[in-house]
Amino acid sequence: MYVRPAAATAAAFLGFTLTLLGGTASAAARPDTATGAGPGPGSAAGRAAVGGPVVYAHRGASAYAPENTLDAIDLAMRLGFDWVENDVQRTKDGELVVVHDDTLARTTDVEQVFPDRGPWKVGDFTAAEIARLDAGSWFGEEYAGAFVPTLREYLDRVQRNRQRLLLEIKKPELYPGIEEQTLKVLGEAGWLDERHVAQRLVVQSFSADSVRVVHGLRPDLVTAFLGTPTVADLPRYAEFTDRINPWHTTISADWVAAVHGLRGAHGKAMEVDTWIVDDAATARKVKAMGVDGIITNAPDVIREAVGDF
Ligand code: G3P
Ligand code: CA
Repeated sequence: MYVRPAAATAAAFLGFTLTLLGGTASAAARPDTATGAGPGPGSAAGRAAVGGPVVYAHRGASAYAPENTLDAIDLAMRLGFDWVENDVQRTKDGELVVVHDDTLARTTDVEQVFPDRGPWKVGDFTAAEIARLDAGSWFGEEYAGAFVPTLREYLDRVQRNRQRLLLEIKKPELYPGIEEQTLKVLGEAGWLDERHVAQRLVVQSFSADSVRVVHGLRPDLVTAFLGTPTVADLPRYAEFTDRINPWHTTISADWVAAVHGLRGAHGKAMEVDTWIVDDAATARKVKAMGVDGIITNAPDVIREAVGDF
């Protein structure tokens, strides 16, 4: 496994200290050992149990901090959100990292650091090379030094924050075997024990095949398919997944009711978490449709609009 250089560690300690002090920008904050502690009574745990849809911080609190960085999940925690969403891909040398696009160009300084390596695909760079990149400055100078976390670093931070994870396997067609590898890393990080599986982890993908593979490897895991199958096709999805997570523009109350009317892979009514909803009016609209969760870049806006506490 790749080990981050010592120079980053000092900056990381500073960032961690800032985090403890409640600072808003803790760029390069380095993960530490998971505590294993769970959320206390009264946390936002559970599926729309009290008052409204569950709110998921998409790529972390990504309206306010650089997406898929540790800063983004730390900020989600400080805002009071325990569910965070991320995107998992694989480096050239086989490390799982948390980044959304299949190139590094939009969210890092890769074009400056490696000018001759276009088109800057994630899978064309080693973990050590990616670790050199600044994943924060593009968003704001206060986040200079934020980095692309490995999945392990990310999991340990989510655990330390006592948060929960909606993990997306991104573009699995580019990374053969990524499902098994993701489960291996989850297991090594302590995320496949009974408590995590029951309450703290959901694995999703736009690839039905990938979701099916995850379900086959770990039938106890909660999974979700990203997309909007026709009502006629929904029963086929119910065989291997528990949730259907659609883009909000593609759904209606009738479609949500049709999903709810089916029992998923674990014998419970299937659920719907919709994305990306960043404004109050749309949040109220999808809540009225009956969705179970809202995945958003601006979780505070959605909580204010529809409340999950
Ligand atoms: O969690 C839903 C959402 O992440 C799907 O779209 O492109 O942001 O990964 P995308
Ligand atoms: Ca995603």
